[in-house]
Amino acid sequence: MKVFMIAAVSADGFIAEHDEHIADWTSPEDKRFFVARTREAGVVVMGGKTFRTIGRAMPGRRNVVYTSKPESINVPDVETTDKPARELIDQLEQEGVHEVAICGGTAIYTLFMKSGLIDEIYLTVEPLTFGTGLTLFNEPIESRLTLLESSKLNDNTLLLHYSVNR
Ligand SMILES: NC(=O)c1ccc[n+]([C@@H]2O[C@H](COP(=O)([O-])OP(=O)(O)OC[C@H]3O[C@@H](n4cnc5c(N)ncnc54)[C@H](OP(=O)(O)O)[C@@H]3O)[C@@H](O)[C@H]2O)c1
Repeated sequence: MKVFMIAAVSADGFIAEHDEHIADWTSPEDKRFFVARTREAGVVVMGGKTFRTIGRAMPGRRNVVYTSKPESINVPDVETTDKPARELIDQLEQEGVHEVAICGGTAIYTLFMKSGLIDEIYLTVEPLTFGTGLTLFNEPIESRLTLLESSKLNDNTLLLHYSVNR
C-alpha cells in the first residue's frame, strides 16, 4: 500500500487563505495533474471542510470524507469516516486498495502525516502569495524528505515529488 499526500501551495507556503477558500487559484496544469494522479490511485481521502468546498464526489475515484457529522454529507458516491488514520488505511488495504491519495486540508494532512502513514508527497508550488492562511500542517511535525523529482507544469508552476524518509 502506498499513501501519498497531494497539495498545492502558494509561493509563501499556504494551501488556502481560510478554511472555506475554494481552489480557484491553482493552474489548469495542476488541476490536470491532480485529476490524473488521483484517478490512478483510485481512492481520495479528504476532510469535511475540503469536501464542502467541492460539494460533490470527485468522479472516477472512491471518495472518503472525514467527518463527525456524517448526516451533513449526504451525497451520492461519498463514504464518510471518523476512523483513526491507521485503521482506515488497514481497512482499505484489506479491501484490495493499493494506493490512497490524501487530499487535505490541513486537518487531514496533519492527521495522516502525524500517524507516520505518508510515503510520498506531491507539492505544486503556484506563483502567488497569500501572506496569511492555512499551512500544510498545524502541529509540530518534523520529517526529512528526499526529492524524487521536480518538474515545471507550466512556465511559472513547479511540481515537487518527495518521499518521506523513514
Ligand atoms: N491547496 C490544496 O492543495 C488544498 C487541498 C485541500 C484543501 N485545501 C483547503 O483547505 C481548507 C480546509 O482545510 P481544514 O484543515 O480547515 O479542513 P479539512 O481538513 O478539509 O476538514 C476538517 C474537517 O474534517 C473532519 N475531521 C477532521 N479530523 C477528523 C477526525 N479525526 N474524525 C472525524 N472527522 C474529522 C471534521 O469535519 P466535520 O466538521 O464535518 O466533523 C473537520 O472539521 C479549505 O480551504 C480547502 O480549500 C487546500
